[in-house]
Amino acid sequence: MSTYRIAVIGGDGTGPEVTAEAVKVMNAAAAKFGFKTDQVTFDFGGERYLRTGETLPDSAVEELRAFDAILLGAIGHPDVKPGILEKGILLKARFELDQYINLRPVKLYPGVATPLKDKGPEEIDYVVVRENTGDLYTGAGGFTMKGTPHETAIQTAMYTRFQVDRCLRYAFEYAHKYGKKARGRGKENTLGLVGKTNVLTYVYDLWERAFHEMGQKDYPDVRRDYYHVDACCMWMVKNPEWFDVLVTGNMFGDIITDLGAITQGGMGIAAGGNINPEGVSMFEPIGGSAPKYTGQGVINPLAAICAMQMMLQTLGQEAAAIKIEEAVKTVTSTKLKSLAAGRMGCSTSQVGDMVAELVAQ
Ligand code: IPM
Ligand code: MN
Repeated sequence: MSTYRIAVIGGDGTGPEVTAEAVKVMNAAAAKFGFKTDQVTFDFGGERYLRTGETLPDSAVEELRAFDAILLGAIGHPDVKPGILEKGILLKARFELDQYINLRPVKLYPGVATPLKDKGPEEIDYVVVRENTGDLYTGAGGFTMKGTPHETAIQTAMYTRFQVDRCLRYAFEYAHKYGKKARGRGKENTLGLVGKTNVLTYVYDLWERAFHEMGQKDYPDVRRDYYHVDACCMWMVKNPEWFDVLVTGNMFGDIITDLGAITQGGMGIAAGGNINPEGVSMFEPIGGSAPKYTGQGVINPLAAICAMQMMLQTLGQEAAAIKIEEAVKTVTSTKLKSLAAGRMGCSTSQVGDMVAELVAQ
């Protein structure tokens, strides 16, 4: 029997509440599908920072390397200046553990309201492969003459061929294995590169050349499309059914996946994985810690449950992952009034119970 070592970081605000529901469903899946989990809880987050000044210490990063996966709730505390916890915990984990893929499915489940007119689960069903280590996120840059009228601020978008190639490799493999043709949902598997080759003539030139070289040579069965990022945003609203797998840099990926998330019903359901295919990956709801709802039991745990579902899929528990997804679909289509906090028609733990029961059946 497989045993997975899972690090559980509930984090701030409502993070621990939703993570508890994800763990509940994971335990139900383990019992049903015959695997074991060995869970260790960590208290990284705003409270610990305020108490000790520590975000994610280097020793913790080393400890995390020994796990099979990390389940994260949410990071963000109203008493901590923006940037400290994000950089100190979330981005540090992504960078130090070299989680170079941020996989963000944009999938509308049945019964979930979307702001897109005349679009349903048939039309909104694609994934974004966001590069997760480079671009404007590297921290390269600085100020000169800070505080004077001549102050300058520079922040540089950087990509190496190595970073681009390994991200594209993952995206092509993903399109080959899970694209619309592979899933019986269309005639072709398609990978769309999202860039800005008309202005960012260095960075996205590199991406575009690498994209076509790799696709031509190794993935003749994957159709290649290209979108400028601004136009891509329009099509994500008007024609989401065009998309299958999209790949893009870190900054564009950050922005377009929030747009994608709202089209799939918002932060109550959107999940993502920070993946190191050769190392330890970390799965999280895309939404924040929603501190004002802490302890009220009104926040939707489905995003955390979906993050955990992606974790099991990545660990190779395909059958459990499929079952959990089916259970989530049943809950969205027959049990919940809305995905929004306070308007679900039941509590956070009741949603977890419903999914767990369906998984156990
Ligand atoms: C996300 C978040 C983070 C990011 C922030 C909190 C640093 O917006 O996961 O998308 O920009 O990557
Ligand atoms: Mn973001």
